[in-house]
Amino acid sequence: MSPSPPAGAGAPPPKGFVIAIDGPAASGKSSTAQWVADSLGYVHVDSGALYRAATACRARKGGPAAEWTEDSVLEAASRVTLRMVGSWLEPLIDGVPAETEIRGSPITSQVSRVAQMPRVRAWVNDRVRATAQDFDVVVDGRDIGTVVFPDAPLKIFLVADPWERARRRLTQQLERRPSDEEIAAETERLVKRDSRDSTQTVQAKDAVLIDTTYLTQAEQVERIVALARAVTRRPGDTSPVDA
Ligand code: DC
Repeated sequence: MSPSPPAGAGAPPPKGFVIAIDGPAASGKSSTAQWVADSLGYVHVDSGALYRAATACRARKGGPAAEWTEDSVLEAASRVTLRMVGSWLEPLIDGVPAETEIRGSPITSQVSRVAQMPRVRAWVNDRVRATAQDFDVVVDGRDIGTVVFPDAPLKIFLVADPWERARRRLTQQLERRPSDEEIAAETERLVKRDSRDSTQTVQAKDAVLIDTTYLTQAEQVERIVALARAVTRRPGDTSPVDA
């Protein structure tokens, strides 16, 4: 069997500046990417949200997830559109926001399966690349610095200890301090998801690795914004770079 071409290969290079932020589940990619985009006046594209929206469209049609075909996912995904809300590119289903649905556990438990489908990956990558034709973008995902934008001038790979990722996720979801038992159960779920998504979660050789276990979100954002300013400095610009 001959290998398939990379998803979306042959797309024109992005016209805007691209910051790629990759990393495992709950490493804070999306919230960090949003904050970085707001700080720099870029558009935030959450590629995982597109995989989730495609999964939600297919799930609405019913049937056991194990029997979903790639064609049926792609057909269902044609209901997804994108709209700009400030600097955030929000996926809509049939023109309606679906944020709560796409983040819920029925979708979270099936999205890894959908994200393995090569033509679904091409569908997501086409949308992400099209956005970078029109805007400077901060894109978060798993393979943004390796597959989607291998020439991105700034690539970040965010990691954090699984226990800390689980603690942060639960604190956000429950809006209270989670117990150690709750964190342990969530850590187990996260580690399983990491393993399901491991094929596409790849750190680019030229990515800057940031371990956020002991960093606040503001500190992560400051580092990435400082790196972005350093990379976009024009020759001869001697103004200090914030560190
Ligand atoms: O980051 P997230 O949990 O919202 O991602 C949802 C799913 O999509 C997850 O299974 C990983 C997958 N994904 C991917 O395979 N490639 C990306 N660029 C982004 C997400």
